[in-house]
Amino acid sequence: MFRGPLLLMLLAPWLVAAYKPIIVVHGLFDGPSNFKDLLGFINQTHPGTNVTVIDLFDHQKSLKPLWEQVKGFGEAIYPIMQNAADGVHLLCYSQGGLICRGILETIPDHNVDTFISLSSPQMGQYGDTDYLRYLFPHYMKSNLYRICYTQLGQDFSICNYWNDPHHRDLYLNSSTYLAPLNAERRCLNTTDWRKNFLRIQKLVLIGGPDDGVITPWQSSQFGFYDENESVTAMEEQKVYLQDAFGLKTLKARGSVITYTVNGVSHTMWHCNFTVYQNYIVKWLT
Ligand SMILES: *[C@@H]1O[C@H](CO)[C@@H](O)[C@H](O)[C@H]1NC(C)=O
Ligand SMILES: *[C@@H]1O[C@H](CO)[C@@H](O)[C@H](O)[C@H]1NC(C)=O
Ligand SMILES: *[C@@H]1O[C@H](CO)[C@@H](O)[C@H](O)[C@H]1NC(C)=O
Ligand SMILES: *[C@@H]1O[C@H](CO)[C@@H](O)[C@H](O)[C@H]1NC(C)=O
Ligand SMILES: *[C@@H]1O[C@H](CO)[C@@H](O)[C@H](O)[C@H]1NC(C)=O
Ligand SMILES: *[C@@H]1O[C@H](CO)[C@@H](O)[C@H](O)[C@H]1NC(C)=O
Repeated sequence: MFRGPLLLMLLAPWLVAAYKPIIVVHGLFDGPSNFKDLLGFINQTHPGTNVTVIDLFDHQKSLKPLWEQVKGFGEAIYPIMQNAADGVHLLCYSQGGLICRGILETIPDHNVDTFISLSSPQMGQYGDTDYLRYLFPHYMKSNLYRICYTQLGQDFSICNYWNDPHHRDLYLNSSTYLAPLNAERRCLNTTDWRKNFLRIQKLVLIGGPDDGVITPWQSSQFGFYDENESVTAMEEQKVYLQDAFGLKTLKARGSVITYTVNGVSHTMWHCNFTVYQNYIVKWLT
């Protein structure tokens, strides 16, 4: 007679305490060692949670083409998802956020609950940054399309999401990654990818005007430049209006949470406890 409630009492604290495993995907030119602060924050608020920072394509190797990285990261993440009956959370930083979106669109049975995109150029990048000067010292943003929109250029991750608003046609024809991922160029897989992406419960978009690398910074929230380099919001993008890869459906479902955070430069997003406490921790259920 008391067996049922007793069992529940024994199990309940454990059930309440169990947080879903967290998988972290790093960005351009970094690796797991950059995420020590974040691991400390998670240990502090959610002790015992299983967190994996995937140790692949570190540092220079992060320049590899993004489809190759999606395959590698996807293979590393899949067994973690299989071991997590209640699903996992994906926390993806910078370029990692584009890799994660590739994973979410191409793994048909993924069980990602919340996808946290931490300052990721989700609509692409168009800006002169130190990274760019380092990689292509002789190019400025205005002429980088000459190299990025070639077969050779597309062998570099950064060209996979280079989005030159003055060369839309070339971008649509040549981008082997972002254009098909955003369904700006439709392909055979577009319908399936949209369905897969919509398996997530929450999409958390975090970015801000003091980022200094993501350009325009609104790309972290699916905004982007129009042909005159004026920024237009997510809701004005053609791919949003057409619901080409599911974003509008997610928004209508109440599943898109957008945060604009001031005072955070690009490399600080995952090292700043205030950011973690105010915008991240509540989604790590
Ligand atoms: C987590 O925090 C506890 C308490 O501060 C500490 O003893 C432990 O070493 C930490 N574990 C990890 C993996 O950081
Ligand atoms: C964390 O999850 C991974 C993948 O499911 C598993 O291999 C590992 O043993 C887990 N670690 C802990 C401490 O539970
Ligand atoms: C894009 O591809 C189409 C079809 O292959 C071609 O007709 C068009 O000229 C291309 N545009 C550019 C700017 O390369
Ligand atoms: C795209 O679709 C084709 C044909 O259905 C399939 O063979 C291929 O594996 C798919 N690619 C991805 C990345 O899902
Ligand atoms: C860009 O500027 C030109 C010239 O001022 C204008 O004709 C055009 O409508 C603008 N485009 C957009 C998308 O606002
Ligand atoms: C940390 O984040 C807060 C916003 O949450 C910001 O005001 C502050 O400047 C940031 N500090 C650093 C060092 O990034």
